[in-house]
Amino acid sequence: NLSNQKFLLKKEWLIQNVEFKLKMIDLELSELYNRTVMQKVEHRIKKADSIARKLVKKGYKVSFENAAVRLNDIVGIRVVCLYSDDVYKIAELLKKQKDFTLIKEKDYIKNPKKSGYQSLHLIMDVPLTYRFVTEAQRVEIQIRTVAMDFWAGVDNHICYKKKPEEMKKAEADLKNYSAVISRMD
Ligand code: GTP
Ligand code: MG
Repeated sequence: NLSNQKFLLKKEWLIQNVEFKLKMIDLELSELYNRTVMQKVEHRIKKADSIARKLVKKGYKVSFENAAVRLNDIVGIRVVCLYSDDVYKIAELLKKQKDFTLIKEKDYIKNPKKSGYQSLHLIMDVPLTYRFVTEAQRVEIQIRTVAMDFWAGVDNHICYKKKPEEMKKAEADLKNYSAVISRMD
């Protein structure tokens, strides 16, 4: 329907806007260090059914308004770089952007999650002016090294497929590998 189209249009605009900034930051850092910095930048828009499911789980009515106000990760952008120093440098430059507002920073590199998951998350607001109205568009930016990205990919795959009896072993293994990865980083 029409409001869904406008919803998606705004999200597409947000992705383009953030990815353009990231391109400029990548250019600047690559020049500074004389090497490539960002290995890949990915994005995803949360599907309507997952948005609805998450709202219900959190105890909110399913609506565009609640989706915009209650959820931070309808638009997710992931930046993968070589070194953990790069992660913090990219975050620092994102935070310097005058038109972006930092809402929340979650440092799962300094404090990995119980699973062993590591990444730096920035929840940011980006202003969009549409039909004379300026509104904040929220984005979750995940910044991580190639090694952390590899770990997260394997974790996603294993925890999705494993039978409950195999889970305990898989989780313990992954937690150990997470420590190996931080040593490598
Ligand atoms: P979600 O409901 O999962 O979004 O959790 P949250 O809102 O409390 O945010 P959190 O910072 O915990 O996680 C946000 C995102 O980080 C998730 O959607 C995943 O993409 C990623 N993530 C968090 N924990 C893990 C983990 O243990 N393994 C993997 N592979 N990814 C994770
Ligand atoms: Mg999420």
